[in-house]
Amino acid sequence: MRCYHHRGERLRSKALTGELKLVEITEDLRREVAAARAEGGRIGLVPTMGALHEGHLSLVRAAREQCDFVVVTIFVNPAQFGPHEDFGQYPRRLESDLAACRELGVDLVYHPATESVYPEEFKTFVEVEELSNMLEGAFRPGHFRGVATVVLKLFNRVCPDVAYFGRKDYQQQLLIRRMCADFDLPISLQICPIVRDEDGLALSSRNSYLTPQQRRSALALSQSLQLARDQFAKGATNVEAVRALMRAHLNETPGVELDYATIAHPESLVEIAEPLPEMIALVAARVDAIRLIDNMLLKT
Ligand code: PAJ
Repeated sequence: MRCYHHRGERLRSKALTGELKLVEITEDLRREVAAARAEGGRIGLVPTMGALHEGHLSLVRAAREQCDFVVVTIFVNPAQFGPHEDFGQYPRRLESDLAACRELGVDLVYHPATESVYPEEFKTFVEVEELSNMLEGAFRPGHFRGVATVVLKLFNRVCPDVAYFGRKDYQQQLLIRRMCADFDLPISLQICPIVRDEDGLALSSRNSYLTPQQRRSALALSQSLQLARDQFAKGATNVEAVRALMRAHLNETPGVELDYATIAHPESLVEIAEPLPEMIALVAARVDAIRLIDNMLLKT
């Protein structure tokens, strides 16, 4: 570990001088990262699709604390959106994203063009078996193939020592962990906790689509998870009954269409029949057409 005091000073002077680099060309990215590595720097990567909020920024702060050179990627990845999903409407706010990155002392924002990531002749995709097809994968066919493919490409372009992901996308981080192990990638993963609003709603770029009334309905997701946590805290032993309670809460909330609400093994995501010392509760629902996900680790 390098000296924190030294890095703190570096961070302050960076924030003052605002020497953030915005890079669109892969060769420029490689040159900058190679220069940082030549100085013995530890390279941290935070992959995002932009429209940065405090959830993303918590990953950036972790990277800033633990690494010498912090790269944030901003790329709205078409390969992970289904044909009827919100790729076209997905919020794009490069200017304010850059300001937030500058404020936190990010060294480089990599914002590649779609044609650079997926040239016309592109043919190779990464498929993580099983994990890709359950839960989110069952409701969003092809989604995780797009995620795994772009994350591997970003890893290969940036070559980070450490990559930061949020537990908010619980299944995604499991899948990326599997891919790193299976492909022998020399990258350590840091998984950061979910950042929530005061009322419990997990921060998401898609929350910006919600009207105040839809936002109130959206609270049913985190409430259903909290309900499950309370049940186990009170000694519940019937997992299916707890699932039924979660589903009832979501189904009873006006404006909410449930995709799934379940309690599963925290590594395999297979539904469990008996309580475990550690379990994961996962929910996905649409508030009108806006699709939201959330999860919570549960203990007995
Ligand atoms: P995006 O949705 O922009 O999220 C980028 C990262 O921020 C992910 O690791 C996600 O889990 C994390 N994140 C989002 N909301 C969070 C919250 N409330 N608390 C903590 N972390 C949060 O996830 C993606 O982009 C894409 O699939 C990507 C990995 C970039 C590949 O395209």
